[in-house]
Amino acid sequence: MKHSIIMDVDTGIDDAMAIMFAVKNPDIDVLAISCVSGNVGLDSVVDNTLKILDVVDAPDIPVAGGATRPMIEKARSAAYVHGEDGLGNLNLPTTARKALPVHSVELIRKTLTDAREPVTLVALAPLTNIALLLRTYPECAHKIERILFMGGSASVGNATAVAEFNIWHDPEAAHMVINSGVPLTMYGLDVFNTVGVDAQSVHALAESDNKVAQVLGGLLGFRVPGPDGEPDRSFSLIGDAGAVCALVANELMDSQSCPIQVQLAPGDSRGQTIVDRRVHIGEDTIHGTAGQWPTANVIFSADVPQVLDLFLSTLSVQPVTV
Ligand code: BDR
Ligand code: CA
Repeated sequence: MKHSIIMDVDTGIDDAMAIMFAVKNPDIDVLAISCVSGNVGLDSVVDNTLKILDVVDAPDIPVAGGATRPMIEKARSAAYVHGEDGLGNLNLPTTARKALPVHSVELIRKTLTDAREPVTLVALAPLTNIALLLRTYPECAHKIERILFMGGSASVGNATAVAEFNIWHDPEAAHMVINSGVPLTMYGLDVFNTVGVDAQSVHALAESDNKVAQVLGGLLGFRVPGPDGEPDRSFSLIGDAGAVCALVANELMDSQSCPIQVQLAPGDSRGQTIVDRRVHIGEDTIHGTAGQWPTANVIFSADVPQVLDLFLSTLSVQPVTV
């Protein structure tokens, strides 16, 4: 089955890998790419997105820049995780590709309007653009088949102890999207943190003669140091790319339909996704205080070797071991 998608990205090491995978996968048709401030500032996100399209010799996919900051919060970059340029300081060649001179919201609206069938939004970044779209043009919602978003967590956070970066960066936008009524699939940190390539394979990719493999190896090789100065884990995450794998290989994912909500209150839990995994009625229901929460199909885990095989074989590169 062919999936027609619009990607919303804050490119970003792992957004870059997600774009590479989506462009190369024969079951995906990337109709447009919308950029948002997140991992780095909007200008860098747009530039990185256009450069990555060159790496995979992508066709002429429309790209536009959108929100330069969240709804309420100020922009807070993740250059610590992605490098100053957002692409692991790889210094990719300049590109002749240009972004369209329109706001992302207009690009998404036009792409949805022109599409014959409903389209999946693959949102791999703070949800600012998607919230703006749904507020500005609510009639677009019926052309969205579902929003598959990388964000949130039912367990640990990364930006804070409990909040994942994309939700934490713009909690109000996440709240609007999650409560919009559009069908949702959440690819959160629970699964995101498990899908990674071993260090030996990353090294082999970086040393390869193949351009795609080299860039992939460079992206995967940029690692955040842990408290002791060593890499924070023994393997390199494919991150957002795993969410795009979930689009084409749902059978490799374990998921459950759960009520979810976003914590907006100030304090230590702001930006947390609260995922209700209970299998029994709680006292909140018994005493009439339970609110009506939207539900999402929440992916909790994946068949990691199979997902890595899908990812690497789609990019026609081979690991040493998986
Ligand atoms: C998410 O935040 C960004 O750093 C990544 O690109 C990913 O979308 C993980 O929390
Ligand atoms: Ca991202």
